[in-house]
Order: sequence, then C-alpha cells, then structure tokens
Amino acid sequence: MQKFIQITDCHLFEEQDGKLLGMDTQFSLDAVLQQMHQQIPDFDFFLCTGDLSQDGSLASYERLKKQIDLDGKPQYWIPGNHDHRGNMLKVVNENKEMVSVIKKGNWQIIMLDSQVPGSVFGNFAQSQLDIVKNALTADSTSHTMLVMHHQPIPMGCEWLDNQQIKNSDALLNIVQQHKNVKVVLWGHVHQDTDREINGVRFISTPSTCVQFTPKSDDFGVDEKGPGYRWMELHDDGTIKTAVSRVEDIDFEIDYSVKGY
Ligand SMILES: [Fe+2]
Repeated sequence: MQKFIQITDCHLFEEQDGKLLGMDTQFSLDAVLQQMHQQIPDFDFFLCTGDLSQDGSLASYERLKKQIDLDGKPQYWIPGNHDHRGNMLKVVNENKEMVSVIKKGNWQIIMLDSQVPGSVFGNFAQSQLDIVKNALTADSTSHTMLVMHHQPIPMGCEWLDNQQIKNSDALLNIVQQHKNVKVVLWGHVHQDTDREINGVRFISTPSTCVQFTPKSDDFGVDEKGPGYRWMELHDDGTIKTAVSRVEDIDFEIDYSVKGY
C-alpha cells in the first residue's frame, strides 16, 4: 500500500504575509500541514497539484520546497494556471519532482500539465496526451491514477466550468480504453468532490487556503476551512481517501470580493 498527501492551490506569494481574498495563504498552509502531521503518522509521498504560487515568484516556491522538505518524503509537482514553470524548475528537478510517470508499488501515477501559459483555463498539449497513451501502452497492468491541475469534467459551477480542460474529451477517450485507470485527481476548483463514472473515481481537492462555493454559477467564496487530502493506493487497485480541513481557526476571509 502507498499513502500520499495531496496539497493543492496554496497560492503563496513572494511576500510571506501575502493575502488571497483576505486570507494569509502561508498562515493557512502552515495550519493545514500542522494538522496533517497530527493526523497522519506516516505516509510515502506528497502530490502538489498546482497553483502552488499565486504570483509565480521564485521566493514562494523556495519557501514551499523548504517547508515540504522537512518531512523528508518524495514530492511531485505540477503547475497550475497561476504558476511560473520556469521558476518552479529553479527550485525542483524536472527529472525528479516534476517527472511525468511515477511508479509506486503496483500503481503508476501520471502527472499531467494542463497549464496554458497566460490563460486561466486548462488544455492538454498533444505531448501530454502522448505521455498518457505511451505510459498506458507500456504498462497495461499497473493500477493507474491520472493527476492534473484543472478539472477534466464539469463541477456544476458555471464560472469554474468555463476554465475546464478544453480538450478533456481526448483524455477521457483514452481512459475509457484502459481498464487499469482507477482514479483521476485534480485541484484548481478549491472544493471537495468525489464521483464514480464508468468505474473510474473522479476526485477534486480543497485548497490549502480559500474555498469556492460548490454548485454556484457565479464566483463565490465558501466558509469551509482550508484542507488537504490523504489517499491510500492499495495493491488490489482499491483506494481509500478523505479530505481533512482545519476547522478550529478563524481565518480572515474577504467575502465581499466578487472575482478571483
Ligand atoms: Fe488554478
């Protein structure tokens, strides 16, 4: 069994006390990681699924890397729409922390880049779709999880669904052809969802800072606490997973903000 911690959408700033919609994003990440350490005695690796920085600054990535390094576990990063890939790569190694295909026991995890530089929405370059095809052709027996920043299926939030991966159908077609794909996991939407479609689990994870209101057509900030996801990948292809939120701290949030 392999157990990982997913942290996503940390939106850290160059300044340590930077705020997103009124929330101090470094403070909330600290609280989330502190709670994780209290709740999870041991785990195998981290998945950091994009929008790790709000401003793409080198300083924000350096702070995050230093913080996660304290656990001494492998960590795997993908960029989100807010991230600066070049600055990320000054802090992590392309062939280590930003590798596309990760083998863990009898699971393979495929980390996909859905970023379109300069855009908020997601899209897969042909090279990313080729990574999925090639990995599933080369290894058709390992249980497989696909990980990306943007959502590949609608969330039921009109403003967010305009940002869905534009060509996610191409990915979903590949998924349908390979019975060993068990899980599709993402961030970006700052909310917890977990659905099963044709035997595949489709899962989104809350941000380590501000949350967005589920099923809302317009931009809306939710009062739920910041959080992380843990997931166990079992040898028989089953998973166990849950989200944990920090509920006992009053984070300052500016609910009057109408955009993001
Ligand atoms: Fe995002």
